[in-house]
Amino acid sequence: MRSLGLLALTASLSELASAFSGGHRDIYHDHIGHDLRKRNIVYNAQIADSYDFVIVGGGTAGLAIASRLSEDSNTTVLVLEAGDTGDAVADRINTPVMAYYSGLPGTSYDWAYTTVSQSNAGSRQLPWPRGKVLGGSSAMNGMYHIRPSKLEVDAWSSLIGSDKWSWDSLFDTMKESETFTPPSSDIQAEAGIQYVASSRGTNGPVHATYPGFTLPVVGNWTETLGNLGVEVTADAYNGEGWGAFIATSSINPSNWTRSYARSAYIDPLPPRSNLAILPNATVTRLIFDSSSSNLTATGVEWAASASAAKQTVSVKKEVILAGGAVGSPHVLMLSGVGPQDVLQAAGVDVKVALPGVGQHLQDHISTSVTFKTTTDTAASLKAAGDNSAAFLSFINSATAYVNITDLLGDSASDFKTQIAGELSTSLVPSTDATVIKGYETIYNTTLNTLLMSPIGQVEILLALTGTGGDSNVITIQAALQHPFSQGRLYITSSDAFTQPAIDPQYLSHTADTVILREGLKLARKIGGTAPLSAVIGDEITPGSSVQSDDDWDSYLAKNIGTEYHPSCSCAMLPREQGGVVDENLKVYGLANVRVADASVFPIQFAAHLQAPTYGLAEQAAKIIRATYNGVGWPSASSNSTSTSTSGSSSATASATQTAQRDRNGALPLSSRSAFALVAAGVLASLLL
Ligand SMILES: Cc1cc2nc3c(=O)[nH]c(=O)nc-3n(C[C@H](O)[C@H](O)[C@H](O)COP(=O)(O)OP(=O)(O)OC[C@H]3O[C@@H](n4cnc5c(N)ncnc54)[C@H](O)[C@@H]3O)c2cc1C
Ligand SMILES: *[C@@H]1O[C@H](CO)[C@@H](O)[C@H](O)[C@H]1NC(C)=O
Ligand SMILES: *[C@@H]1O[C@H](CO)[C@@H](O)[C@H](O)[C@H]1NC(C)=O
Ligand SMILES: *[C@@H]1O[C@H](CO)[C@@H](O)[C@H](O)[C@H]1NC(C)=O
Ligand SMILES: *[C@@H]1O[C@H](CO)[C@@H](O)[C@H](O)[C@H]1NC(C)=O
Ligand SMILES: *[C@@H]1O[C@H](CO)[C@@H](O)[C@H](O)[C@H]1NC(C)=O
Ligand SMILES: *[C@@H]1O[C@H](CO)[C@@H](O)[C@H](O)[C@H]1NC(C)=O
Ligand SMILES: *[C@@H]1O[C@H](CO)[C@@H](O)[C@H](O)[C@H]1NC(C)=O
Ligand SMILES: *[C@@H]1O[C@H](CO)[C@@H](O)[C@H](O)[C@H]1NC(C)=O
Repeated sequence: MRSLGLLALTASLSELASAFSGGHRDIYHDHIGHDLRKRNIVYNAQIADSYDFVIVGGGTAGLAIASRLSEDSNTTVLVLEAGDTGDAVADRINTPVMAYYSGLPGTSYDWAYTTVSQSNAGSRQLPWPRGKVLGGSSAMNGMYHIRPSKLEVDAWSSLIGSDKWSWDSLFDTMKESETFTPPSSDIQAEAGIQYVASSRGTNGPVHATYPGFTLPVVGNWTETLGNLGVEVTADAYNGEGWGAFIATSSINPSNWTRSYARSAYIDPLPPRSNLAILPNATVTRLIFDSSSSNLTATGVEWAASASAAKQTVSVKKEVILAGGAVGSPHVLMLSGVGPQDVLQAAGVDVKVALPGVGQHLQDHISTSVTFKTTTDTAASLKAAGDNSAAFLSFINSATAYVNITDLLGDSASDFKTQIAGELSTSLVPSTDATVIKGYETIYNTTLNTLLMSPIGQVEILLALTGTGGDSNVITIQAALQHPFSQGRLYITSSDAFTQPAIDPQYLSHTADTVILREGLKLARKIGGTAPLSAVIGDEITPGSSVQSDDDWDSYLAKNIGTEYHPSCSCAMLPREQGGVVDENLKVYGLANVRVADASVFPIQFAAHLQAPTYGLAEQAAKIIRATYNGVGWPSASSNSTSTSTSGSSSATASATQTAQRDRNGALPLSSRSAFALVAAGVLASLLL
């Protein structure tokens, strides 16, 4: 506490003065020194006036980044999260099997978005759940913990022309984000699990393992797929994540609880004076100082509710948008950064015309084939009242990524030729030339790099958790992985509490219908193939009346829904291709705003999105810490010499630039003061 006296003398340091009241305590402590926060979460709604980093959204990526940035005790971090803590629904979040029966979708912890009417999908307005709670969508997801393949990640890296996003980099950070625990030998045998531990992380915050309870029918999965000619995968986590396997789930095996962004990255931390996480705080816009050529964010405006007064917090270094595939582009547009016509129509002043914001939106769509069964399912055991801790850890995990020849056989190459001739810019929901270019680039990558490869075009999942209240059911779900359809989301109002219009343009490209149809046919075939067929009864949906391609196409148009993987709405692409962020996740035209969440992937992966999102968040934290503190990039375990060399030299260069900018006064006064203090080594001891 030696430095408090120094502080009291330094009257000009407004940001520190406001962080301490009475001179002897910070706002996070009461008069006898009790921490008013639990696990760095602010319950009394009191925050300081300014922070180095303000993170918008305490979701999957946001909490991971907050946790990493605040490892540097000389860095102050605020997270503003629109949703509540989730404490009141902790059981519903934590208990894996409850994800299917009483999870958060449909509650006040769900943004509960709906799409606009989808003309190629039965003119339906489809539900789009997204987590609105600490942990974001990781608090309500299905816990599949699956990685994309090297080919896909390297395709992303080529699109942006940077090895920061190569497989080698993301493989390292995905490993750093997780701790893998092998299954017990009983579970391994019963479920037919194969794994290679060396592909997995050993010391990261997110737990990845298999549930403590499985069913014999799971053990029939890979053999059945193998009998249909699909590769059975021994290691789905090393960059070759295709074929049939039993996936890991984000579950903590020590007590069979969901391992999600909050329980992984925040709850285990000791109290950190330099980290504050504020729930019930909806960001309404960013505030810019427009005196520089690239706009500098100087503050973030937020409100506790639509009717509450707006409040502002100052930003000393950067804003990091981690609002997810809907929230991040939404906040950019509310702040005047987005397509000019959209902003003008919504009555928002245009600060940076950035036509790609909200564009290139891609999602996985899925529907299923269901069968009657007489064997036990998780749903039937639950109906019978099984309440054991092991049972409650049950989660669906039998998976297969089937490739284009698994789906189309010999006609795959004709199909490719046909799609090559069906690139039509009339399907782009923008007239902007850069967005059209980006559409074509993504389309060409999907066609030329991803389609005729061993990676999955359709994901097939076995669900044993019932549908529509029927527990004696086996569901085989098929989900399109690399859509040729791209949509957009856009604001229709300047009010942050009005949901943006979401138009994924599902099935606007006919290739998507063909690929998903063939996936559904394969799902039906799986039900008829040994050894699984031994426990499969009559097909319930779509049923024997669906036989021709036209029958399937109309079935799927009426039944597809989101697989909950919207992405690409702030795509990392060159600005000339309708990109929103550069290789460092920085928003074009803004000096100090990054986006770091599932919205920046420029293409979809044959994978669920949480594992790559955690990897992206780890990488984002490294890039930011390198920029300001000269630490963290490249990762210690990184192998690529080219990454190491270019990475560290550019990190040094940007750290120098930042320091110079600080001294030159391009950042607000408070930042310069803090910099001087930090340099004097004072702030560090205060904030510890
Ligand atoms: C029902 C469901 C099931 C899923 N199943 C799986 C699965 O099994 N496996 C898998 O890997 N993936 C799954 N996913 C997808 C995966 O969870 C997401 O892709 C991933 O979590 C996205 O992370 P994110 O950081 O981009 O966004 P999120 O985790 O959604 O975080 C965004 C956060 O920002 C907050 N926010 C948004 N706007 C604002 C604002 N204006 N102000 C303040 N805060 C704001 C939100 O409340 C949220 O907390 C599922 C998703 C859902 C919804
Ligand atoms: C968030 O708001 C809800 C509803 O007003 C309230 O019950 C809850 O206590 C608030 N949470 C925090 C952390 O302040
Ligand atoms: C902040 O702390 C990190 C160590 O966590 C150190 O490397 C860095 O130099 C410090 N930054 C400043 C500006 O003092
Ligand atoms: C397949 O399932 C049946 C019963 O559902 C079970 O008896 C058999 O052991 C399973 N096969 C494998 C390979 O696990
Ligand atoms: C589960 O165990 C972890 C420690 O591994 C602990 O941090 C967490 O609080 C536990 N969760 C519950 C709900 O008991
Ligand atoms: C995409 O491929 C088509 C067909 O080969 C070509 O005409 C077009 O220029 C390509 N577009 C881009 C942006 O690469
Ligand atoms: C798809 O997988 C099968 C089975 O492993 C394989 O024979 C085939 O070559 C793969 N197709 C492509 C395009 O790689
Ligand atoms: C503005 O930002 C772009 C990247 O978005 C960068 O290339 C450019 O150098 C920046 N200009 C200034 C003056 O900082
Ligand atoms: C690094 O490279 C070596 C040799 O090329 C390889 O054996 C090792 O597995 C790599 N390590 C990582 C973490 O990729």
